[in-house]
Amino acid sequence: MPKTMTADRDAIFWDSAAKRYDRQTKRLAAMYDEMVRRILQELAPGDNVLDVGTGTGEIPLRICHAVSRLEAVDASREMIAVARDNAKLRGARNVTFSVHNSYNLPFRDGTFDAVIVSNLLHIVEHPADVLAEARRVLKADGRLIAPTYVGRESVRARIFSWVLKRTGHPVYTRFTSRSLRALIERSGFDVADQALLKNILPVSFIVARKAGATPEG
Ligand SMILES: C[S@@+](CC[C@H](N)C(=O)[O-])C[C@H]1O[C@@H](n2cnc3c(N)ncnc32)[C@H](O)[C@@H]1O
Repeated sequence: MPKTMTADRDAIFWDSAAKRYDRQTKRLAAMYDEMVRRILQELAPGDNVLDVGTGTGEIPLRICHAVSRLEAVDASREMIAVARDNAKLRGARNVTFSVHNSYNLPFRDGTFDAVIVSNLLHIVEHPADVLAEARRVLKADGRLIAPTYVGRESVRARIFSWVLKRTGHPVYTRFTSRSLRALIERSGFDVADQALLKNILPVSFIVARKAGATPEG
């Protein structure tokens, strides 16, 4: 099946999950606190940032005060509708939310200082293609920030992934920290930092740069 079709089919699932997902992000506040703390360490005030698979906008709305501009995209219209409502409620002015597929981003090569793919790589059918597109829109010295659920990291995580899949949740890859890192490296990045966040769900937090790029001073 062409990847855009699977992605469109999955978008129907995510559309139906949007309001529930938004409530869930609030229940997982401790996990988001930790992810956001780490993301902020990677950003500078002048940065132009892209968040891919933004969901209801929890991450961009928590970090937008610290950067110049933020684009946030998601394939689900309902997710983006809730994200826009959240942005209004929180008075965020420098974030633009739009409906786009991560396989085909409407941005020029080398646009962004940082691209965030948070909890996206395990739920897309072709994660290497998502990473290729993220790499394309990153500046030469840009950072990829990829906190990702690693569903094969522990027995508990495996059971949870199995339950998710059985209940219709799209899960394509059950990563370990090691297999996630290997995928990111195969996709043309050098991993600069990796940490396992052991909250309710294990998340491997990876920061990477385009392979061969020299970090500025
Ligand atoms: C598990 S949620 C993560 C949301 C957010 N990044 C976070 O960390 O809270 C995954 C999101 O990816 C979106 N998504 C799934 N497949 C996508 C694709 N091919 N392109 C863009 N977004 C996609 C879903 O609609 C959903 O909002």
